[in-house]
Amino acid sequence: MPTLNVNLGARTYPIHIGPDLLSPSSGIPLSSFVERQVAIVTNEVVAPLYLARLSQPLKEAGILVSEIILPDGESHKNWKSLNHIYDRLLAERCDRTTSIIALGGGVVGDLAGFAAATYQRGVPFIQVPTTLLAQVDSSVGGKTGINHPRGKNMVGAFWQPRLVLADTDTLNTLPDRELSAGLAEVIKYGLIRDLPFLEWLEANMVKLMARDSAALSYAIERSCINKAAVVAGDELETAKQGGRALLNLGHTFGHAIETGMGYGVWLHGEAVAAGTMMAVELSRRLGWLSDANVERVQHLFEQARLPVRGPVLGSLRYLDLMGHDKKVIAGRLRLVLLRQLGNAVTWADASQVEIRAAIDACCE
Ligand code: NAD
Ligand code: GLY
Repeated sequence: MPTLNVNLGARTYPIHIGPDLLSPSSGIPLSSFVERQVAIVTNEVVAPLYLARLSQPLKEAGILVSEIILPDGESHKNWKSLNHIYDRLLAERCDRTTSIIALGGGVVGDLAGFAAATYQRGVPFIQVPTTLLAQVDSSVGGKTGINHPRGKNMVGAFWQPRLVLADTDTLNTLPDRELSAGLAEVIKYGLIRDLPFLEWLEANMVKLMARDSAALSYAIERSCINKAAVVAGDELETAKQGGRALLNLGHTFGHAIETGMGYGVWLHGEAVAAGTMMAVELSRRLGWLSDANVERVQHLFEQARLPVRGPVLGSLRYLDLMGHDKKVIAGRLRLVLLRQLGNAVTWADASQVEIRAAIDACCE
């Protein structure tokens, strides 16, 4: 079972990855990471599948367990769900020693993490991710938050978990479309900083799509190694160039798709895939990538059954939506582009004409 660390000094924490980690026999006694009370935040899809497996051993260890079950979906990553979590924490008299445990995908993780960051000015937090996307990306690194009707993830906080427990068996129940969405973030690591991994993905995408467990475990581990290294180097995304912002390849375009279409219509990973093709196309137009490079990336996304073209919102509307991105500083849009495959940069010098041309070239 691979165990990695996210090295953040006194706040360093482990990521455990492997099968059957939710079972008490896994050797990871969750009860030893918490005090007398926990609140498990999950949703109505994940609760019937995994909540009892997580909460039962804690209850048997004498820990008070509150179970907070949210409605499912990106459209619920908002103030209403967050307030519901606060209401329940207060009603159950949770105090500053209560650990909040996120059991679910990125939506639950981002919401529960923001509640943990803010409830009584911050309580301990544990991530138990159950989607591929959450196991390779959102559960690691401490970004938490909610959406605003005008922009994705516009309200939030950095709040690192104390532990990430990625039970790969939970992926057995994940719908195919969600598996593909997670692969978009896996491919991202290869594109931005790990060419050998990109090549491995090209050779193994068929296995990943067939849910080969060894291939999936390797992809999760390699993704987490990449994410942990980037986060350790620029935890709060303050680097002037490069740094943690590179993890957002395709996200500025992708967030425009998610907000523009209405949250939940396109899955996050689907929007990231189409958004990455826009970033790749712009990189080609800047003379950094060849036509063959673009085709290679497109082929990989297609093998993962991900969209390679965005919806026709109009490139002006894209630009308007992208103007709300957190990478806009003093009105200047900073995009993540590819100098080469495996080598991403942040770039603030693309003109609106160039950006619009790349978007138009990548829409249906
Ligand atoms: P999600 O949380 O909506 O989960 C996808 C779907 O799968 C949901 O319907 C969920 O109920 C269901 N599900 C979860 N686990 C399951 C399982 N084991 N079996 C069956 N169904 C299961 O979506 P996601 O793709 O996990 O996460 C997307 C969110 O993550 C977005 O809001 C995105 O902004 C956020 N995100 C955050 C970060 C970060 O660093 N914090 C990084 C990337 C993405
Ligand atoms: N998913 C982007 C980040 O964690 O920085």
